[in-house]
Amino acid sequence: MSGVFVVGSINQDFVLRLERRPEPGETVTGAELSLFPGGKGANSAVAAARLGARVAMLGRVGEDAFGADLVRNLREAGVDTTHVGSVPGVPTGSAFITVTPDGENAIVVSPGANRSFGPREVDAAAEDLRAAGVLVAQLEVDAGAVGRAARAVMGAGGRFLLNFAPPREVPEGILALADPLVVNEHEARFLLGEAGGEPEAAVEGLLGRGPRSVVVTLGAEGALLAAGGSTRRFGAPEVEAVDTTGAGDAFVGALAARLAGGDGLEEAVPYAVLAGAAAVTREGAQGSLPTPEEVEGLD
Ligand code: RIB
Ligand code: NA
Repeated sequence: MSGVFVVGSINQDFVLRLERRPEPGETVTGAELSLFPGGKGANSAVAAARLGARVAMLGRVGEDAFGADLVRNLREAGVDTTHVGSVPGVPTGSAFITVTPDGENAIVVSPGANRSFGPREVDAAAEDLRAAGVLVAQLEVDAGAVGRAARAVMGAGGRFLLNFAPPREVPEGILALADPLVVNEHEARFLLGEAGGEPEAAVEGLLGRGPRSVVVTLGAEGALLAAGGSTRRFGAPEVEAVDTTGAGDAFVGALAARLAGGDGLEEAVPYAVLAGAAAVTREGAQGSLPTPEEVEGLD
């Protein structure tokens, strides 16, 4: 049993670097536009592949130029796209991202084709899902498809890494399948309300929702891991923040790659922290995903 399987989103990212975001009704000019391949699912798939994992993905794009490019890009990154299809009559998912000089981003996503698959498409990939060691999913795609995929992978002895991003209402049972459930502080607050505000307390609250393990990512402060009855904090190296877009996906992809390679969470989480830090130092989501040498260089 080995390899990573991602059920997730594929987006065309339109990234605008600007001095400051406009207020409602205001026009801001002078922004610089760059196009990058993106989508939390695709980003984590490419992150895991770049770090040496065998990776397959299930997802959908539209029958347009963006979609064809994005699938080619996945393939070139070494991701098996057998289960990535294109859907006629819907646009490829897109993300409109503003990045300010401090490296912070704000993202609006138009899901497009990412919403055109569900449990049925998951069943069509059942054989490959059962062969996967680690399933990775985020919440930019149908939660029913994610739950179905999780059960298929776990039924064959694999594990399910759920990244609760972007946060939204999902059937409660999905959280209990996760091992680990990966959230940032914002997502913890979505799930727990005020109780999610303090990371150590959030870990307890999140474990109460049923997952076997929980990881709370803390940005520049590293990450908290709660598993097997204890909680540990792993610090992050200091890096210059150019663009935080994709840092969470780099973290998740790296974590999955290490778990699929046989590491436990105790070894995989600090490695993922380094991968996330590396992704912060470069522009774009997928463009900023690190190689193994770059990750180790931060250690
Ligand atoms: O996590 C970053 C990603 O979120 C971007 O690539 C964008 O497509 C959105 O899905
Ligand atoms: Na980045």
